[in-house]
Amino acid sequence: MASSSSSSSRVKAAMAALLVAVCLLHYGGGSGAAASGLCVDYYHHSCPDAYKIVQGVLVEAHKSDTRIFASLIRLHFHDCFVQGCDGSLLLDTFPGFESEKDARPNNGSARGYDVVDAAKAALEKACPGVVSCADILALAAEISVVLSGGPGWNVFLGRLDSKTSNIASAQNLPGPNDGLKNLTLKFNAVGLDTTDLVALSGAHTFGRVQCRFVTDRLYNFNGTNQPDPSLNPAYRAFLIQRCPQGGNGSSLNDLDPTTPNTFDKNYYTNLEAHRGFLPSDQELKSDPLASTTTAPIVDRFAGSQDAFFKTFANSMIRMGNIQPLTDPSVGEIRKHCAFVN
Ligand code: HEM
Ligand SMILES: *[C@@H]1O[C@H](CO)[C@@H](O)[C@H](O)[C@H]1NC(C)=O
Ligand SMILES: *[C@@H]1O[C@H](CO)[C@@H](O)[C@H](O)[C@H]1NC(C)=O
Ligand SMILES: *[C@@H]1O[C@H](CO)[C@@H](O)[C@H](O)[C@H]1NC(C)=O
Ligand SMILES: *[C@@H]1O[C@H](CO)[C@@H](O)[C@H](O)[C@H]1NC(C)=O
Repeated sequence: MASSSSSSSRVKAAMAALLVAVCLLHYGGGSGAAASGLCVDYYHHSCPDAYKIVQGVLVEAHKSDTRIFASLIRLHFHDCFVQGCDGSLLLDTFPGFESEKDARPNNGSARGYDVVDAAKAALEKACPGVVSCADILALAAEISVVLSGGPGWNVFLGRLDSKTSNIASAQNLPGPNDGLKNLTLKFNAVGLDTTDLVALSGAHTFGRVQCRFVTDRLYNFNGTNQPDPSLNPAYRAFLIQRCPQGGNGSSLNDLDPTTPNTFDKNYYTNLEAHRGFLPSDQELKSDPLASTTTAPIVDRFAGSQDAFFKTFANSMIRMGNIQPLTDPSVGEIRKHCAFVN
């Protein structure tokens, strides 16, 4: 046992050494520094205060918008699932080019773009042309979780920004009415597994959600004219007050009514009590398929915040690694996140 654990720490040390070597290539900034992977110290020399600068902008924004931390981590998710973490989500529509912002999962839903722009402006002032918008989203996601009481992690950096976006792929983002099978397939398609699906869904421990995403579960589940049987009756009664039939579908609710702004494991204890909001939330525990796949993982996280935090941090790094754009002949450092240079 002792020998296997020491050999695993040797492997870790070797991997760390390899990462440093990759980073040093970047530091060189010279012609031969073909960017390959991402690394934690990417801006160590070129923009040493990058983390602090983004953090400062987020803290300021949060003073007038308690929801902003949740909104920002969601932007990173919606960016990474569409042609990789490359800032493609942030581009505005221009002639011949329709923005991912217009896709169904984003339009009237994704928010926080102005705060990303403010972070970009602050970074451009301190170190012009250095920090990509894709990396701003990765930094903002981690900072948001930490400032909400959740775990920190090593934010790998060095992504470039795309010159294109892909609205068709954004239409196909994981949706609240996707069955467990399809959710799993969409995560697998970007290299994420069932554990990642359950852990990352735990981000629904904070933030807000519109009534229109729950009305079917309240009044007409799956065309039955009945409520969703997997919805806790007391929670249903509560939601009916907040989201009356025929009412304003844009009214906002807490994704986690127990601790609405805190990053904790309550998302999972809610699921155990059949108090998940979205169909895609509750089915992780209640779908017939879940008992041999996702439900045991939900149980584990409901029982241990430590297990959730450790897995979440690891899954965020994995999500941040989806198809990183590092080829300078394809990507760029945008000057403004909404426009290609
Ligand atoms: C598993 C598939 C997922 C589905 C189907 C899904 C769907 C949704 C929906 C429908 C909303 C409400 C949007 C609105 O009312 O306008 C939402 C909000 C949110 N999602 Fe997800 N989501 C998923 C995974 C994730 C992941 C992986 C993350 C981050 C790691 C995340 C973070 C959030 C956050 C923080 C909010 C609240 C945002 C705010 O208050 O502005 N979600 N999600
Ligand atoms: C986005 O939503 C707004 C308001 O709901 C709507 O008027 C607009 O047509 C939508 N845009 C697209 C491209 O669907
Ligand atoms: C999965 O997605 C396909 C294609 O959109 C759809 O036809 C099917 O009904 C979905 N199945 C589930 C279980 O969600
Ligand atoms: C929804 O209804 C269809 C058709 O009646 C049925 O095959 C399917 O299993 C139902 N889905 C759920 C989640 O109850
Ligand atoms: C519906 O709710 C949203 C969010 O609270 C609000 O901005 C909007 O004005 C409301 N619309 C109507 C018609 O009341």
